[in-house]
Amino acid sequence: MTVPRKIIIDTDPGQDDAAAIMLALGSPAEVHVLGITAVAGNVPLALTERNVRIICELCARPDIKVFAGADRPLSRSLVTAEHVHGKTGLDGPELTEPTMPLQPGHAVDFIIETLLSEAPGTVTLCTLGALTNIALALTKAPEIASRVRELVMMGGGFFEGGNITPAAEFNIYVDPQAADIVFKSGIPIVMMPLDVTHRVLTHKARVEKIKAIRSPAAVAMAEMLEFFERFDIEKYGSDGGPLHDPTVIAYLLRPDLFKGRDCNVEIETKSELTMGMTVVDWWRVTGRNPNARVMREVDADGFFELLTERLARL
Ligand code: BDR
Ligand code: CA
Repeated sequence: MTVPRKIIIDTDPGQDDAAAIMLALGSPAEVHVLGITAVAGNVPLALTERNVRIICELCARPDIKVFAGADRPLSRSLVTAEHVHGKTGLDGPELTEPTMPLQPGHAVDFIIETLLSEAPGTVTLCTLGALTNIALALTKAPEIASRVRELVMMGGGFFEGGNITPAAEFNIYVDPQAADIVFKSGIPIVMMPLDVTHRVLTHKARVEKIKAIRSPAAVAMAEMLEFFERFDIEKYGSDGGPLHDPTVIAYLLRPDLFKGRDCNVEIETKSELTMGMTVVDWWRVTGRNPNARVMREVDADGFFELLTERLARL
């Protein structure tokens, strides 16, 4: 029997963040969620921490430790994405206010304390939003970098360009300075960029399969996806919207669904025109050392089968 991999999910729900959290909570044999840390991003922090608790309750897991983290990026003003996710961040289904508590203490301290108390190389960080909490933790306690097993992030885009500006993907754009700290930290990074996430589309038939599970969590998920995709269908003219964040958890469960290569990635932090761009040396033309495994391909059908199967276990 394999021991479940210990993870901390850092997130800004967001309907696709909700799908990622549900995928993790539906996979207890493979992943053990030590805690979930909220960050400002898609919507302000007061909503993201609330949304995490709503999702945990939907999954009948009020025991999960949820912490609030940074309410703004390191040095820029917060940019949010209500135009995609709706006013609450989880628009779509009727949801009730959560009753499970928020943990006392700051998310950044939870991340530091967990990494210092667990055995080195055993905790994986899964980031689904701006990297502010992780950068703050690395700045406050640089010794944690060498203790992280791996950081798997949804962020960036290269061949596919950006989604919030022509050059930048939303999570990196919200806090480029934080991303820069993380990419320079020496932590082994796996990056799920738009190049991958734009290939996992919420086709109608896929959402119907989720709805057909008929559990409260699955029905809420399907309704969230129906809301979330309307923006991207209009924007990209695609059949369904890209389901970004669950690719991070899917990678932990089934790395064979993804293909990529080790590259150097640098973050643009100076130019307003290309702010937050992930400059990926895919063709290794710079001689700079690889600092991330950048994914480019995904088995989309395999991904949705996995997601649907795990949602059915909740
Ligand atoms: C990322 O931005 C957010 O809006 C989504 O939740 C995802 O994490 C995609 O660019
Ligand atoms: Ca997110």
